[in-house]
Amino acid sequence: MKRVAILISGGGTNMVALVQSMRGDNPARATLVLSNTPDAVGLDRAATLGVPTAVVDHRAFGRDRQAFEAALLGPLQAANPDIICLAGFMRILTPGFVERFAGRILNIHPSLLPLYPGLDTYARALAAGDKEAGCTVHEVTADLDSGPILGQARVAIEPGDTADSLAARVLYQEHRLYPAVLRRFAEGDRTPLYL
Ligand code: GAR
Repeated sequence: MKRVAILISGGGTNMVALVQSMRGDNPARATLVLSNTPDAVGLDRAATLGVPTAVVDHRAFGRDRQAFEAALLGPLQAANPDIICLAGFMRILTPGFVERFAGRILNIHPSLLPLYPGLDTYARALAAGDKEAGCTVHEVTADLDSGPILGQARVAIEPGDTADSLAARVLYQEHRLYPAVLRRFAEGDRTPLYL
């Protein structure tokens, strides 16, 4: 059984989709939900699902990312995960942290990478006049939003779409894509999945 820690910052809807998928013959189980914001709604959702939670408030560390990450290691090492899933986790991890868990950290990003790394992905896709948007699950490397792609799901951009309407349809696809990719990853399959 693969132990999975999920890092969140907010609502945690991807986290919920992941936790709910890790049942039955799925070779992974959620063993920790860790948030960098104490008031993340996802913490309550995780507790309701019976997953242990922890908080490391990044604001206590100012700009010292390494001190923040050293604090993250406490609950993470206690949970001893085989796989770490970033699920709406809005802090950039340093190369040192990523290397410690090399090849074992996944992230979901709301664009068709390599398009639109970083923030405001929906507005950027709309401003560019793109015909489609989507989401990507990728392995986390030291470079932001650029590790090997493990899966993508596409969404048509409709006339009249706003960033919010597009975000809602992309999020629906995220909830399909991330559990499917995580399951394959836990089974040792890193070939990309295209939904
Ligand atoms: C999701 O859309 C996710 O792709 C995005 O934040 C949202 C989190 O929603 N992540 C990023 O932008 C990462 N840079 P959730 O907390 O409900 O899963």
